[in-house]
Amino acid sequence: MFPSPSGGSVENRQSKPRLPPGPVPLPLLGNVLSIDTKEPWLTYTKWRAAYGDLLFMRILDQEAVVINSQHVAEALMDKRSRIYSDRPYLATVEPFGWSTITFAFTGYGDEWRLSRRLFHQTFRPNSTLKFRPVQMRRAREMIVNLIDDPQHYHDHFATFSSSVGMSVIYDYQPSARDDPLREQSCFNSSPSLPDWCWGSSIKRDAQISTDRMNEMRDLPFQSAQQHMAENSFLGQFSMVAENLQRMEKQDEASKPIFEVALKRAAAAAILGSYETTSSTLMVFVLAMVLYPDVQRHAQAEIDSVVGRDRLPTFEDRASLPYVESILRETFRWHPILPLGVPHATSSDDTYNGFFIPKGTTVMCNVWAISRDEKRYPDASRFMPERFIDVDGALTDDDPAGYIFGLGRRACPGRYAGDASVWSAIVTMLATVNFSFAKDDQGKVIDFTPQFNTGLIRSVKIFPCNISPRSHVHSGLVDLL
Ligand code: HEM
Repeated sequence: MFPSPSGGSVENRQSKPRLPPGPVPLPLLGNVLSIDTKEPWLTYTKWRAAYGDLLFMRILDQEAVVINSQHVAEALMDKRSRIYSDRPYLATVEPFGWSTITFAFTGYGDEWRLSRRLFHQTFRPNSTLKFRPVQMRRAREMIVNLIDDPQHYHDHFATFSSSVGMSVIYDYQPSARDDPLREQSCFNSSPSLPDWCWGSSIKRDAQISTDRMNEMRDLPFQSAQQHMAENSFLGQFSMVAENLQRMEKQDEASKPIFEVALKRAAAAAILGSYETTSSTLMVFVLAMVLYPDVQRHAQAEIDSVVGRDRLPTFEDRASLPYVESILRETFRWHPILPLGVPHATSSDDTYNGFFIPKGTTVMCNVWAISRDEKRYPDASRFMPERFIDVDGALTDDDPAGYIFGLGRRACPGRYAGDASVWSAIVTMLATVNFSFAKDDQGKVIDFTPQFNTGLIRSVKIFPCNISPRSHVHSGLVDLL
């Protein structure tokens, strides 16, 4: 077995608790050579057969556990969230300026708590209801772009996610293309993301990165402050406007701390929503191209519930169970964060007789949960019906219970993210058809889906044909 862990309490050391099972580590390197560097979740999923739902490993000198089931994730990350809500230390976070724009990598403590509280006030379930009109409006604008310029569908998803974010956070309405402030905020996080998964390389110059992060945090914030000073807000609600008003009432001494936390929480919302939303929409389109029957089924549901003379709204959501099942299956089929965002333990713990030392990195293997053949037979197939029972109602199994993370660090943008993705999906299903692209000779262009890996696993752009549905005439487009 392993050498005894460092940092155990006296009692733990005396009783020599066992670490959870796991592969035998090499001296110095630990288990690093056995792990798939691009897709580590595949290795951890394979190891599940040998070691079970809680496995222990070492990456160089870092102790880590991988949780391979929702049950254990709930038992530890949720029910013991006091212990499991820290983040592992990452050497790249400070020098590259990440902590200026997000609290997602901040350790469990007061600084994180303040930003998270501010965030939560805007993004808790009831508060996010007020974003629905903006989400729907932006989803419909996206359709106009998709019909106009189908080739660049990926760009339109990016525009959709950033423009929803910019509206609800800064009350800023970016112009359709080449908006300077949106460009500032839409940054591509793939090449410079912290190296959570030991799969990506970080070669960017830290100073350039920090400057960019500062601009991303400050420019839209200053624009919101200016709107406020000029009393020229476009909409009624935005996270920054609401909080700047709150800040006005505070005593002078607390204002600077509050402002820093607010700037960071606002930038964190843009960062958190941008790539997650557009990557999820890419998975959806991939599914619609590869599974045309699913698309037809969903369109038939929308046509019969909503009709063809108007577009779906949030009020229709409860009457569209099949569309809901597509959303669930989209989240499950290719989870965009296959290892979530790693947590760390802030004190020693014992679970089922296994010792988990303080400072252990804790990863929830969302990929393994999504590929559990007992729960999801034929798991690699896109099959929304798995979430529908014999009476046609939705089952209790909702992948939102794991794809947004668990415990106190679980995604605070979950309700807004879910609603953005739903509004985009339902509007696309009502108005356009996705199918395989064809070449000049009319031959279907076949392809094998490829994925970018890193913290976020996203489908690479693939050839795809997007055309308006037959009833989507100019009159309906005018309604968009
Ligand atoms: C489809 C959409 C999304 C998915 C799948 C997703 C998933 C996740 C996951 C897995 C985590 C880590 C949770 C953990 O540590 O256990 C997370 C954290 C976070 N997400 Fe999301 N997210 C989505 C959308 C959003 C949106 C729309 C926002 C902002 C409005 C957002 C903001 C954040 C923030 C700020 C954190 C860090 C929380 C913390 O460390 O305390 N996310 N998200």
